[in-house]
Amino acid sequence: MEIFTQIAPLKAFLQDLKCRGQSVGLVPTMGALHAGHISLIKASKSANNITVGSIFVNPVQFNNETDLEKYPRTLDKDMKLLQSVGCNVLFSPPNAEMYPIKATVSMDFGVLDKVMEGKFRPGHFSGVALVVSKLFNIIQPDHAYFGQKDWQQFAIIKKLTEELNFSITLHSVETLRESDGLALSSRNLRLDEKQRVTANIFYKSLVKAKTALLEGKPLKEVKGMVASMVQSVQNVRLEYFELADSKNLNLLENVEQSSQPIMCIAGYVGDIRLIDNMFLD
Ligand code: PAJ
Repeated sequence: MEIFTQIAPLKAFLQDLKCRGQSVGLVPTMGALHAGHISLIKASKSANNITVGSIFVNPVQFNNETDLEKYPRTLDKDMKLLQSVGCNVLFSPPNAEMYPIKATVSMDFGVLDKVMEGKFRPGHFSGVALVVSKLFNIIQPDHAYFGQKDWQQFAIIKKLTEELNFSITLHSVETLRESDGLALSSRNLRLDEKQRVTANIFYKSLVKAKTALLEGKPLKEVKGMVASMVQSVQNVRLEYFELADSKNLNLLENVEQSSQPIMCIAGYVGDIRLIDNMFLD
């Protein structure tokens, strides 16, 4: 695996490969890699000659200093893992390479970044869109891979790609879960033993809510059920549970308002923020 920390040599290396007709797939990450990330690397490997993984804990997408400080960083382990699954290139730049001057660009995605994660983490998606735009410009991949777990992020990156005319095909890869349903996440590393046991309450709520909604229970009732399910667990707090149209992310009042609704949930286990989602079909 070729490792780059600087933009110029990475660009030169990829340019040479592209001239020789090699296709490039990009998997952007913030590291602390787990099997979910690796499934994206595998998806890229199966469809491209060269897979570039990036690891960069992007400061401008954190709206909470403590969350940024406490974000797990396991670069040595990550490198070994990427190497073991045959990732071809790793780009892990320092902050000064990505942000030599303080970032001033901000982006607005209308409804897409005003609801759910956007409402509770103001500025977050502008920061995500900025770093993803930088990575797209630096690497110029043919394909880029993202997880369904961050569905709102995917919807925003899709919009970004369309509006800025990036010639990149985007792929959303299914959420990988632990055996008890907990969605794999880098933040799970911060859960202690007790918290780890209760952390699947968000998944369990989604499963229950899905059944209830498909049985025709009104959304209002289902929201109440999810709230009391989460509330009944010690040290866990619900931030939101919403039903949204999976394309435009408009929040729904009932299942019939969209042909492809998605349920999204977020909350805290202790001080660790987790998110999850599930399609209704
Ligand atoms: P990060 O949280 O490291 O996630 C990197 C990619 O892995 C994202 O596309 C995310 O949706 C995907 N992913 C996370 N957990 C997953 C799981 N359990 N199953 C499948 N895929 C999963 O998302 C980010 O980083 C950043 O916002 C980034 C896009 C890199 C921009 O900084």
